[in-house]
Amino acid sequence: MSSERESRFKIQPGGKLTGKIRVPGDKSISHRSIMLGAIADGTTEVSGFLDGEDNLATLNAFREMGVNIQGPDNGRVVIEGVGLHGLKKPTKALCLGNAGTSMRLMTGLLAAQAFDSELTGDISLSSRPMRRVTEPLATMGAKTATTETGTPPIKISGGQTLKGIDYVMPVASAQVKSCLLLAGLYAEGRTCITEPAPTRDHTERMLQGLGYSVETDDSHICLTGGGKLNATKIDVPADISSATFFMVGASIASGSDITLEHVGMNPTRIGVINILRLMGADITLNNEKTVGGEPVADIRVRAAKLKGIRIPEDQVPLAIDEFPALFVAAACAEGETVLTGARELRVKESDRIQAMADGLQILGIDAQPTEDGMVIQSGQLGSGTVESHGDHRIAMSFAMAGLRSRGEIVINDCANVDTSFPGFVTLAANMGLNISE
Ligand code: S3P
Repeated sequence: MSSERESRFKIQPGGKLTGKIRVPGDKSISHRSIMLGAIADGTTEVSGFLDGEDNLATLNAFREMGVNIQGPDNGRVVIEGVGLHGLKKPTKALCLGNAGTSMRLMTGLLAAQAFDSELTGDISLSSRPMRRVTEPLATMGAKTATTETGTPPIKISGGQTLKGIDYVMPVASAQVKSCLLLAGLYAEGRTCITEPAPTRDHTERMLQGLGYSVETDDSHICLTGGGKLNATKIDVPADISSATFFMVGASIASGSDITLEHVGMNPTRIGVINILRLMGADITLNNEKTVGGEPVADIRVRAAKLKGIRIPEDQVPLAIDEFPALFVAAACAEGETVLTGARELRVKESDRIQAMADGLQILGIDAQPTEDGMVIQSGQLGSGTVESHGDHRIAMSFAMAGLRSRGEIVINDCANVDTSFPGFVTLAANMGLNISE
């Protein structure tokens, strides 16, 4: 974790974004590459790995469990898989920093191991809900303990025999689904999960890429425990969630024209493109291909006149991490934008509904938070100091707001940008954002 937690961004108004860049690797896929590579048989070679703090926390946790991992070196990581039963008991609690994905997925994996373990996190992660994974895991026979309020640390008692379950998820969550699929690899019989709405399917794709049979049919995902994973090569595409800041920035800043290369275009992740296009954004896709089981494309974005919309609820899980940036787009779009059905935003790295509404209001925008979304009126972004609450995506979203603000925007508490987007300030400045630290 970065030692300088007081980092703050200063954005001078105006400018436009131009150029061709490749944003860092996909965080979700990078986490999974370490986890699945570690429990595969053989050596997995990863390219395009995101060396952000969240993924490094996952990587270090597996090193603590005896897995030999080389890198990351320019996005290259080599994992000497130990097989499904080769992980070793860590000598101390595994600290996962800010990484919610890591904690939820690893709880499923560790619940099935022969040894006891404990997972801890930073202040933000220590306040996030974990019963969504510990409760269904308990029905599989797992033994875990959280705080009384269901938050980390999570203590996991090993040596349990897990049984497959049929689980209907109450919330659309890829982390919960993936946690149960990882536990299901070790469980007796079949584990089946029903999703209320499609969520990112990187776990299913990567399991299949490693030769494990996963049956997917509409909203059902099933696998049978007791198989094995075969090491492979994993090409991690650029993260569409990181590309989002630039898609929004280029859309709102007149004269912008950018190309974001080799971005992951998994259909369960492209809600942001669908929503921006509904708002009138000028987005074209080139070089579309499939790499290692995941679709990728180069995304060209040119400035456009955006209009406010009612965001279709079926797009919410497909754009769940992109709303902070989309709220900035909404402030710059003509008319009203309404988001509903996004209560999950309240339990991310921060309460993203409240954090964005507060910040937008400080900047002079009429942004009204609701229980499960926000109503935003178009307006002129002013100037002021906003809080990111240590949330990387809030910080980067407000940075893009500077492209259309009247005065300086100062964003507090930005060090966690390194969890998902190391090098953001330099890259953004090179493309034309007037940003300094
Ligand atoms: C993720 C799933 C999403 C997302 C998170 C990454 C994943 O969380 O917000 O940033 O990699 O599985 P939920 O499953 O809680 O929606």
